[in-house]
Amino acid sequence: MNEYYERLQKALAAVRERTDAVPFAGVVLGSGLGGLADEIEIDTVIPYSELPGMPVSTVQGHNGHFVFGRCGGVPVVMMQGRVHYYEGYTTPETVMPVRLMGLMGIKMLFLTNAAGGVNWNYHAGDLMLIADQICNVPSPLIGPNIDELGVRFPDMSEIYSKRLRSIVRDTASENGIPLREGVYIQLGGPNYESPSEVRMVRTLGADAVGMSTATEAIAARHMGLETVGISCISNLACGVTSAPLSHAEVQECADRVAPQFKRLITASLQKMYDQLS
Ligand code: HPA
Repeated sequence: MNEYYERLQKALAAVRERTDAVPFAGVVLGSGLGGLADEIEIDTVIPYSELPGMPVSTVQGHNGHFVFGRCGGVPVVMMQGRVHYYEGYTTPETVMPVRLMGLMGIKMLFLTNAAGGVNWNYHAGDLMLIADQICNVPSPLIGPNIDELGVRFPDMSEIYSKRLRSIVRDTASENGIPLREGVYIQLGGPNYESPSEVRMVRTLGADAVGMSTATEAIAARHMGLETVGISCISNLACGVTSAPLSHAEVQECADRVAPQFKRLITASLQKMYDQLS
């Protein structure tokens, strides 16, 4: 067996010693958005550090746990904290937790992140449904293909599911939550962008910039998982505003938007569960 796949299988076996849950959805909680996991009906919490072979997150505001439970009645596993490429992990390593949730049997993946607004019309505090993405870090699929997970050359024509996006859009309008829709670009980080880099990514077609998510979405699609994503625009990217950026600002903004964000995720998940399960 491929060494990487063996690591995943060992981690899966360790999960199965703790819970036999087969959640409907996997939810990845971005920077400052982890609070949602504290509000669900929790069954089991497993720190990544207790799963052999799993990478462990080192960033402030990114506790590393899988949280199993019910969110608005929907069986979920939430990733409270993720690992990033800039921590020194390879992109295949950074997607291990998402692949592990796929092996647990989730039916769909809900990705969230904090991102910088690149589109001139965006404001800090906006929520953006991810329509498509640009992955500007190495693909998480590099290396020998793991045939048990998916094909060598997977299609990426609809990374973010049309029908799941439509559910999020409907949910937002029913709840009076303003929602943007745009293209997310993943850069390596950990430094924020220069004004010229922000101009470059806008020219490339990006509306928001961040340091995660695109790799996870690729790994999910490789496994055939239906995927949807929301960015919390925590700040305007460098050059869109003259203010210097700080991680504290990103966290503060996430705190401010958290109530709307939680309502949108929970209500969307309920609708998805009703319609797809
Ligand atoms: N750039 C990159 N990543 C980010 C930003 C940003 O402005 N804000 C939150 N994550």
